[in-house]
Amino acid sequence: MNVLFLAPNYPPEMQDFTRGLAEVGADVCGLGDSGMDGLPPKVRRSLAAYRQVSLFDRAAVVEAARSFGVRFDRIECLWEPFIELAGHLREVFGIPGMNEDVCRGFRDKELMKRRVEAAGLRVPHHARARSAAEVQEAAERISYPIIIKPIAGAGSADTYRVDNAAQLESVLQRTAHVEEVSVEEFVDGEEFTFDTISIEGRPAFFNIAQYHPRPLQARSNEWISPIVTVQRDVWNPKFRGGIELGLKVLDALGMGTGFTHMEWYRKANGEVIFGEIGGRSPGGHLVDQMNFSSDIDLFREWARAVCWRRFDAEVSRRYNVAIVFKRALGQGRITRIEGLDEYMRRYGRHVCAEALLRPGQRRRDWLQTLVSDGFLCVRHPDLDETMRMANLVATDIRMYAGG
Ligand SMILES: Nc1ncnc2c1ncn2[C@@H]1O[C@H](COP(=O)(O)OP(=O)(O)OP(=O)(O)O)[C@@H](O)[C@H]1O
Ligand SMILES: [Mg+2]
Repeated sequence: MNVLFLAPNYPPEMQDFTRGLAEVGADVCGLGDSGMDGLPPKVRRSLAAYRQVSLFDRAAVVEAARSFGVRFDRIECLWEPFIELAGHLREVFGIPGMNEDVCRGFRDKELMKRRVEAAGLRVPHHARARSAAEVQEAAERISYPIIIKPIAGAGSADTYRVDNAAQLESVLQRTAHVEEVSVEEFVDGEEFTFDTISIEGRPAFFNIAQYHPRPLQARSNEWISPIVTVQRDVWNPKFRGGIELGLKVLDALGMGTGFTHMEWYRKANGEVIFGEIGGRSPGGHLVDQMNFSSDIDLFREWARAVCWRRFDAEVSRRYNVAIVFKRALGQGRITRIEGLDEYMRRYGRHVCAEALLRPGQRRRDWLQTLVSDGFLCVRHPDLDETMRMANLVATDIRMYAGG
């Protein structure tokens, strides 16, 4: 089983997917931007061969892939910017799997919504716009409040809620550098994920997580400690509409085998609306959370699905799992953390991961990375108790920076 895996080293969770591929018996050829010396032992051990190449240079990537001199059985990528490149390479090398056009449906937000809508599913009213005039025209048609966001965005960057024509003027200035935007009806509701490892379009595994608060709010207010909760009770009727939507979206987009990460909204009246979907694993340590929920290894199970069309883990869902991302007060380097020792004394047995920055370390840019200044992850069979412990991380652990 020869697998060409793009970006085996970065983002960091790719290192575990690389390990997973090796563990299920694949010979992994890696292509990435890092130099060979920059690969940690875990990655190096898991690779049969590696070439450093700029993944932005398609011709160079094709040449580098050829230079391995093997016939690939699979070509995979789980990093958002290069999902379409993987589809292109499958076509170039005649490999089964999603072609570039299918991959584009998981990347281009307007195309995605058109395909989902064509299947009769509810998406926010939307339009694509390349100029201020087109945005204004779309805003009038859709009517306020609206959302403006890049066609190929990530991390809520350059995404704005606009309530009226006056606000639109200033948002147009702030988004002037974005070549093409989506204009959408603003959907008021709770926000969830529907994540899957699918085999030939059918989920062998699925997950539901809830965002608290909604990502756009979390990214607009530095004082917030965003929480994401993997739900244990996935068969709760309140998720049924989201799951049904998710399954139909996979069909509509021609999903094959691999990871998917969908976001969906649920309005107070129960209506369920499609948000977006990626043909990749979710970031922000959500894969770790899903693993903690059932004590399984989805890095390996993804690899098994991709290579052998099998999923072997037992999904027990014993726990709800909440991750809390912290943001320090002040700028520069972390100076102190308050409340962590006390928290660990009281709740340490429910903590499955703790990776807060420590004094002396430089703050991360909370606008650039959801992980912010680190995180703490708790789990418990009871959802209310999980949320109570997560909220205490938000309120009772405080990080300070200065100098
Ligand atoms: N139509 C909408 N109605 C209400 N809120 C929206 C809408 N579109 C986007 N948002 C808010 O903006 C956030 C970011 O939008 P979206 O998920 O489409 O883009 P993204 O930047 O690719 O996301 P991610 O943060 O997952 O990388 C959403 O999570 C949601 O909170
Ligand atoms: Mg999103």
